[in-house]
Amino acid sequence: MYVLGVETSCDETAASLLTGDFNVLSNIILSQDEIHAPYGGIVPELASRQHISSIPYVVKECLNRAQISIEEVDVYAVTQGPGLVGSLLVGLSFSKGLAYYFGKPLIPVDHLEAHIQSAFLENRETPYPVLALLVSGGHTSLFYLEKRLQYELVGKTRDDAAGEALDKIAKFLDLGYPGGPIIDKRAQKGNPRKFPFGVPRMSDRTLDFSFSGLKTAALRYIRKSNLQTDHPQLNDFLASFQQAVIKALLSNLTRAIRKCNPRSLILCGGVARNQELRKKFLSLARKSHLPAYIPSPQLCTDNAAMVAGLALEKIQSGQKGDFSLDVNAYPRFHSS
Ligand code: KG4
Ligand code: ZN
Repeated sequence: MYVLGVETSCDETAASLLTGDFNVLSNIILSQDEIHAPYGGIVPELASRQHISSIPYVVKECLNRAQISIEEVDVYAVTQGPGLVGSLLVGLSFSKGLAYYFGKPLIPVDHLEAHIQSAFLENRETPYPVLALLVSGGHTSLFYLEKRLQYELVGKTRDDAAGEALDKIAKFLDLGYPGGPIIDKRAQKGNPRKFPFGVPRMSDRTLDFSFSGLKTAALRYIRKSNLQTDHPQLNDFLASFQQAVIKALLSNLTRAIRKCNPRSLILCGGVARNQELRKKFLSLARKSHLPAYIPSPQLCTDNAAMVAGLALEKIQSGQKGDFSLDVNAYPRFHSS
């Protein structure tokens, strides 16, 4: 069996081809970073237009690299939401068109569930229940999976996502876009104890996150210390800010472990590429005596292998759905 996955929820146009035994034959990702960089953030209108012009080439390249013809594709999988609705519609309409023309099923998948799936792609034997920390530019959430394909949202951000906070601080300092990877690199050369940030915690003891207070504190430091691109302590500042974000993520994860008692941990989403977060997450897992899984970096940020993988998982578990072409994009979180 061959599954063609398509992902266009945000600013990456991606297609991937998987075999029925989860083997990734090709995984093409065309980033729009250069298009959005001058604006310091994603411009939704530009994103959807770029998806329209890129998608035919990305899918063609994906099939070429996998050495599979389009007639051989058995199932189409596509991200349905959450994301930018204009962007989602491009991938969804393109995949619907192909499924309709070739008379094949279309499986719509949820973007957040697909991010979690990226960890299962490389580790098929992950023990359940699983606690997954998903950290990206649009989302910061904790999911508890009692068994496979059963997602319970146990914590989420009440304001900014962690990646969004990193991107905004980098934008404010004129460091470039996306800010997450830039801060990651510069933080490695800085002292994380130089600027004392408090760790944000919700007063109501839920497992929710909040990053807007941390962002405001960072902006205050920037103004007070007149931090600019060439400031000698800029790397120290970025290391300290990143450290505070990581502490906030992992302190919630620690409480969630106590509350949910999982048998394994997953870290996923674009921010899971962060070197320091990966290290600290693995160290927390070791201390908690839990096996932990982080996808390889190219599977952390948006990609379509995770989309095709989730569709395959659904097929194999007998979760049929109606596979009709009458599916619509949804922009916000949707509980399944
Ligand atoms: O998962 P993703 O590609 O898109 C969303 O679903 O949001 O995540 C993108 C986010 C951006 O905020 C980006 O700055 C962040 O992931 N990111 C990183 C790193 N690489 C990407 N954040 C910190 N360190 C990195 N190395
Ligand atoms: Zn994503």
